[in-house]
Amino acid sequence: MISVIRAENKAFDLPAPDKVIRVTPMTQARFAGKAAIITGGSGGIGSAIASAFVDEGAMVGIIDTNQETLDKSVSALVARGGRAQGLVVDVRNHEAVNEAISTFASHFGRIDILVAAAGGSLGTPRDLDQITEADIDLVLDVNVKGTFNCARAVIPYMKKVNGGAIVTFSSIGGRGASPVTGVPYASAKSGILGLTRRLAREVGPDNIRVNAIAPGLFLTGRLQGMFDALPENERNEVLNAIPLKRMPDINECVQPVLFLASEAASYMTGTILDVNGGRLMPSS
Ligand SMILES: NC(=O)c1ccc[n+]([C@@H]2O[C@H](COP(=O)([O-])OP(=O)(O)OC[C@H]3O[C@@H](n4cnc5c(N)ncnc54)[C@H](O)[C@@H]3O)[C@@H](O)[C@H]2O)c1
Repeated sequence: MISVIRAENKAFDLPAPDKVIRVTPMTQARFAGKAAIITGGSGGIGSAIASAFVDEGAMVGIIDTNQETLDKSVSALVARGGRAQGLVVDVRNHEAVNEAISTFASHFGRIDILVAAAGGSLGTPRDLDQITEADIDLVLDVNVKGTFNCARAVIPYMKKVNGGAIVTFSSIGGRGASPVTGVPYASAKSGILGLTRRLAREVGPDNIRVNAIAPGLFLTGRLQGMFDALPENERNEVLNAIPLKRMPDINECVQPVLFLASEAASYMTGTILDVNGGRLMPSS
């Protein structure tokens, strides 16, 4: 259900645009009895996705490297009435990932959905001259190898339940040449698109769908602070480049992810869903 309400656009010191759309979570339990694993599940977008899955009946396993935020996220999921488990795992470590996925499968009795949200530019510099080898290793390893490790680990469990859905996280920075993030991030997020398509082809016969989401700028956590600190003219520049002329609500990323994971997307695999307010409209 989508409700349209008037609200302040708190990201800008601008007059509020005519309308700000807040997408309220679906109320039906599309994922009752299913188990969803969310990597980066205590981050800005991942934690919102985890909550939405719980609200729609899923059991939720979250993976993250940050013990403190992970504990908070699991407690919040349980407080909403969900069945949830969190494990501190670095997605770069395939043995640790395999072990975690096996633990979740024993705990929940099944695995139906993976949302691979762990990633980002991870504090690495944007300027070419400042990027070290360690920076590019980090960004490629967490985003691409981490997604690969997690996807490969869940597939045997999805086969046991005759199908599943994997949602990978690309970015507007992987779809075009965004100036906001650097070359390593663009490389990693483009790499995730190739991974998504190739994997979709491989596991389609097992009724496992693999799709990517490519969000534009969502002002989660650290990004909100960075954005608020920009001079007004730069913030306006960002806003003006978005045809919808507003910044998104977090649920406007969450709901497309849930859609890709749901039966409503049952004939979609190997696709990329651009969620960027029209800022980038790739021709292919
Ligand atoms: N926020 C945006 O504007 C935006 C736009 C496009 C794409 N994305 C992508 O969406 C995803 C989530 O972004 P976010 O804004 O919620 O970021 P975030 O930093 O709030 O969350 C990322 C989470 O991943 C975890 N993480 C980092 N390295 C890890 C590792 N090695 N193993 C396990 N967990 C690890 C972090 O601890 C954090 O909780 C990322 O892949 C990001 O690139 C975000």
